[in-house]
Amino acid sequence: MRLVLVGPPGAGKGTQAQFIAEHSGVPKISTGDIFRANVSAGTPLGVQAKAFMDRGDLVPDDVTIEMVRNRLAEPDALEGFLLDGFPRTVPQAETLDDILRETAQTKLDVVLELVVDDDEVIRRLSGRRTCRSCNHIWHVDFDPPEKPGVCDLDGGELYQREDDKPETIANRLEVYAESTAPLVAYYAGRGLLVGIDATGPVDDITQRAIDALRPFEKA
Ligand code: AP5
Repeated sequence: MRLVLVGPPGAGKGTQAQFIAEHSGVPKISTGDIFRANVSAGTPLGVQAKAFMDRGDLVPDDVTIEMVRNRLAEPDALEGFLLDGFPRTVPQAETLDDILRETAQTKLDVVLELVVDDDEVIRRLSGRRTCRSCNHIWHVDFDPPEKPGVCDLDGGELYQREDDKPETIANRLEVYAESTAPLVAYYAGRGLLVGIDATGPVDDITQRAIDALRPFEKA
């Protein structure tokens, strides 16, 4: 399956991507995670991306597209993938079509939209904590680790993302409305969009996602 996950910041894309990718047996490719790994490692790509990310702005298309093009050419992505955080603009979506034609002579199967309102997004982002070593996502109220600040899975340190400050969250929501929301209409117009209610317990949302994706699974 070739799947794109779309939704506002904090909709739960990263949380659900993990489960859906495992269920579908495809690699999860998150542009946000790749950027953050490059920022931590201090690579030239990370240095270039950091200022945009810290403000909650989009990293320029040329940088992002090149990174995704390289990742999709890796052997594990040729048979299917789940993209989390890409595309985020209509030009990125058009380029994704070109990349798929060039690398695998194929097309996207489905775009899954996680639908959540802004108040819920703000509650989720302001309490998010991420493990520095395994990247697992926690929430101080909705999904707290046993010991505050420590990942239950591997004992790694939990940190708050730089872009989860209130003023940056507000900018990310504006950027989403301006640049990414049009993508939803774009994919709906092409008959590729399936939306699910992404509020409620995480497990319920995963089940809704799996049910919504079933018609697109290949035998
Ligand atoms: P990215 O990392 O993609 O950020 P985002 O889209 O803003 O999404 P988030 O990671 O903030 O949220 P999420 O939807 O994954 O929610 P999560 O599962 O963590 O991108 C970061 C930056 O990189 C961008 O701003 C940009 O600068 C750059 N970038 C990335 N891709 C780019 C691109 N294509 N082009 C240009 N620039 C790009 O959940 C949030 C919290 O809610 C967690 O604490 C979680 O535990 C909790 N939660 C999840 N589900 C539930 C639930 N059901 N109930 C209660 N709490 C829940």
